[in-house]
Amino acid sequence: MPAPGSVPALEVRGLVKHYPGVKALDGVDLVVRQHEVLGLAGENGAGKSTLLKALVGLVKPDAGEIWVRGEKVRLRSVVEAADHGIGMVFQEQSLVPNLTAAENIVLGSEGPGVRRGIYRWDTMRKLAQEQLDKIGSHIDPLARTDTLSFADRQMVEIAKVLRIEQRTQHPPVIILDEPTSVLESKEIETLFTQVRRLREFASVVFVSHRLDEVLDVCDRVSVLRGGQSVGEVPTAGALPAELHRMMIGSTGSDDHYHDTAAVRTEEPLPPMLSVRGMSSSTFRDVDLDVRAGEIVGIVGVHGSGREDVCRALFGAEPISAGEVTLDGRKLDLSSTRAACAAGIGYVPAERKIEGMVGPMSVAENMTLTKQKSRCAGPIVVPSKQASLVDRWIERLSIRTPHRGTAIQRLSGGNQQKVVLARWLVAGDIRLLLLDHPTRGLDIGARSEVYRLMRELANSGVATVLLADSLEEAIGMSDRILVMSDGRVTKEVACPSGSKPTPLDLVKEMV
Ligand SMILES: Nc1ncnc2c1ncn2[C@@H]1O[C@H](COP(=O)(O)OP(=O)(O)OP(=O)(O)O)[C@@H](O)[C@H]1O
Ligand SMILES: [Mg+2]
Repeated sequence: MPAPGSVPALEVRGLVKHYPGVKALDGVDLVVRQHEVLGLAGENGAGKSTLLKALVGLVKPDAGEIWVRGEKVRLRSVVEAADHGIGMVFQEQSLVPNLTAAENIVLGSEGPGVRRGIYRWDTMRKLAQEQLDKIGSHIDPLARTDTLSFADRQMVEIAKVLRIEQRTQHPPVIILDEPTSVLESKEIETLFTQVRRLREFASVVFVSHRLDEVLDVCDRVSVLRGGQSVGEVPTAGALPAELHRMMIGSTGSDDHYHDTAAVRTEEPLPPMLSVRGMSSSTFRDVDLDVRAGEIVGIVGVHGSGREDVCRALFGAEPISAGEVTLDGRKLDLSSTRAACAAGIGYVPAERKIEGMVGPMSVAENMTLTKQKSRCAGPIVVPSKQASLVDRWIERLSIRTPHRGTAIQRLSGGNQQKVVLARWLVAGDIRLLLLDHPTRGLDIGARSEVYRLMRELANSGVATVLLADSLEEAIGMSDRILVMSDGRVTKEVACPSGSKPTPLDLVKEMV
């Protein structure tokens, strides 16, 4: 009998899972030690979410074994997994929208929150508040979940999964599948503090496409490629480039923004987009100029109003004042249909909700706007459309069995790529509004998106970018506006050759 500390918290041996046309898991091995934070890295579609879903009973493996603390188990449901102390925060959010945060947190593990079938609201609220306090969140437990921001809902999910502590005598295993992709840097810090605290009494499995983050918060990283385990590395002293090489199986360039320098024209062009004094309930007096060929980044903390500015420019949020022109003509901001017709493309951050139609095929999702667009011209010839779609599938290395596969069967990152491709396919865009376009994408797809953004800019498209990180904003933008509390507080020039540092921007953001 080995010493208790040496028995892994969780062990996976030879796990296999087939889907029609895809071998999602191809004999995966994985060891999660007690009291460690284990990173799981791999390209989009490598099999990470499938593996983790098998660990919480949501995916039934075709072959292989799962061992919990030295005992072989069968996990047939989330409840069975929870009884073994395994809980997961999902990449696709799982909260019930019309319930309060407190109800969502306590749901399924009510404990003293229910007495003889009757809900004790005070107790539930208190239990939920305790969980929220643990992660330093100030969300009102009585707020309805559908009124919360995406990031706040993510915090509610984390608070919820932590309830598993109450359920088991043993140290739990908490699985976080891309918990940071929708969070801003301050919230990420809070989460990481929480993850480090969790290590004291639990094991954590952590997935992120930001490799610096993985190396920062994890003790060890396991790498998946094409549904197979390809190796493990301790994070101490490891570099993102090494991890990336293991993920793709060859030497990849680490230089994300490389080759993306703007093609400079001699004279400055007049602005393509001109915004003067635009106001709404969430931002005030916004002035913004974007020239053809220019990428303008807007940075700001959560609640700075930058997302709302983008939504307003797409006609998705009413404005109360302001003049907005595109190419010298007054822009109709009354509807998204009018915005599309004027040549505006918008890649929303919440692509799952606003961006895709789950049961429809990859091809249909990719060509949605083209069909709806006023400028679609003659009816799209199916075979022509098919080869167009195939070209984009190849260009963004979208992992799908076929262009006819339903988008909901793709991995999270590959779904993102399809929605992104829709706007690039559209072809008649003059202003592109990108809200976190690289969210959830692996490094390879990200550099491809950077190249495409620059290519579109060089062809005369004006771009507004809400980047995923300050580094991305600096790397990609020609100019950066800082927003704080609904106002533009600063403009920073960002030409290649003399870029500001992230610190320069942070100083302006607070
Ligand atoms: N329900 C499903 N039906 C069919 N195929 C699926 C299903 N779920 C996943 N797949 C396929 O299995 C493979 C692995 O997907 P998975 O979601 O595990 O990838 P991932 O590593 O989590 O990627 P990402 O980083 O994009 O989230 C992909 O090719 C995906 O299309
Ligand atoms: Mg995934």
